[in-house]
Amino acid sequence: MNIADGELMEGVLSSGGYEIVETPEEADVILVNTCAIREHAERRVLGRVAQLNRLKKERPGLVIGVTGCMAQRMGESLLERASYVDLVMGPDGYRSLAGRLEGLTKARAEASGGGFAKNPPSASPASKRLQLAVLELDDTENYEGLELRRRCGVTAWIPIQRGCDHRCTFCIVPYVRGPEKNRTPTDIVIEVRSLAEAGVTEVTLLGQTVNSYRSGGWAFPDLLRAVSKVEGIRRVRFTSPHPNDVTPALIEVMADEPAVCEQLHLPAQSGSNRILKRMVRRYTVEKYLDTVEALRRAIPDIALSTDIIVGFPGETEAEFQETLELMRAVRFDDAFTYKYSLREGTPATRFPAEDFLTDEVAQGRLEMLIDVARHIQGEVNRTELGRVEEVLIEGPAREAGQLRGKTRRHKVVAFAAEGARAGDYVFVELTGTSGATFARRLVEAASPVTTA
Ligand code: 5AD
Repeated sequence: MNIADGELMEGVLSSGGYEIVETPEEADVILVNTCAIREHAERRVLGRVAQLNRLKKERPGLVIGVTGCMAQRMGESLLERASYVDLVMGPDGYRSLAGRLEGLTKARAEASGGGFAKNPPSASPASKRLQLAVLELDDTENYEGLELRRRCGVTAWIPIQRGCDHRCTFCIVPYVRGPEKNRTPTDIVIEVRSLAEAGVTEVTLLGQTVNSYRSGGWAFPDLLRAVSKVEGIRRVRFTSPHPNDVTPALIEVMADEPAVCEQLHLPAQSGSNRILKRMVRRYTVEKYLDTVEALRRAIPDIALSTDIIVGFPGETEAEFQETLELMRAVRFDDAFTYKYSLREGTPATRFPAEDFLTDEVAQGRLEMLIDVARHIQGEVNRTELGRVEEVLIEGPAREAGQLRGKTRRHKVVAFAAEGARAGDYVFVELTGTSGATFARRLVEAASPVTTA
């Protein structure tokens, strides 16, 4: 979602006359786009912004902005805490980004008599006025009609929904991104068509709870089917779904439509019914397992990944063991594992103080969970040795001379393939695995697709 928001901001800036440069050293404006989902990510942003301030000391005219959910959450207190930040803008402010920057630059030029050097940022009232906070949440802003400036010509993120109507008690998203807002299916399908015409063959539909999408008479399965039928689109993915909205109608479209990939990221969060209830996830472990079974019945080869939080307030050792049992029962292809992070303003902060676990206990559980998840992932991936799979090449791999791509089941592979390039589909045989990623041998090039 943050990559897509970055592409949206770059689109707004490009059409506002700005040029996108590759390094902070070349830039007149640096925007740091942020996430608020865990405290750890926020701390890293503060460090990064402080680093950028060094550039500002050399070039006082430089504008530094913090955008996204952390900007929304911290608001003006971020401007106070980091006085060298000129702009904070929440996730609903991007439409006016170019105009706001222009206003800010003008105001600063006037205040410094034409040059910026005389007015280094400080906490003085004069410079305070030159900091700008754009923090209104807008229940209707879905950025319809704005063009993203996409970095990749092979795959594309398609935001179809912003915000969230769920109230999972751990989660900050509803408070920093507002209620669910969906784009119209017409707008989405037109965008996918134009991407396909430009050579994109894989799209990923994006939303906080992407499968609760509704617009007019359309529900998510209708949209998924329409996108899958767009000419030139060979792969469709979507993320992240809420397990409750993985309906029989959705599973049917996933199984039916050849373009929909055999892969799903399905956040479980916990393997304990009592914890799930306290999280207000609104499903039980049994219901989650039924959904997994229904998916596997319809799409036998489907690769499943998940999100898990350990150390949620009140989680007992036995309840944590239930989460490990869930991991062993489902045998996920991949798992994103998190230690509970307290987010101010979320309902979970109101549990009694004695419910909150020490970092030591939570860290211990996290490490144990990661061990189990990695072990299962390695086992699952080793069963795939020898398989021949279609890979869409996305670009160069870390190792020189190698290319990197993904299978339909969202597994990363690296291999040497002379003559092939980003955008090509090739068939490769799995020859080895490091656990998470695969090394593969090229078998044959399959109908290469030229990218624009
Ligand atoms: N603490 C830890 N993990 C969190 N997530 C969301 N909020 C928190 C939090 N407060 C995790 C969830 C979600 C993923 C994107 O981030 O697992 O699915």
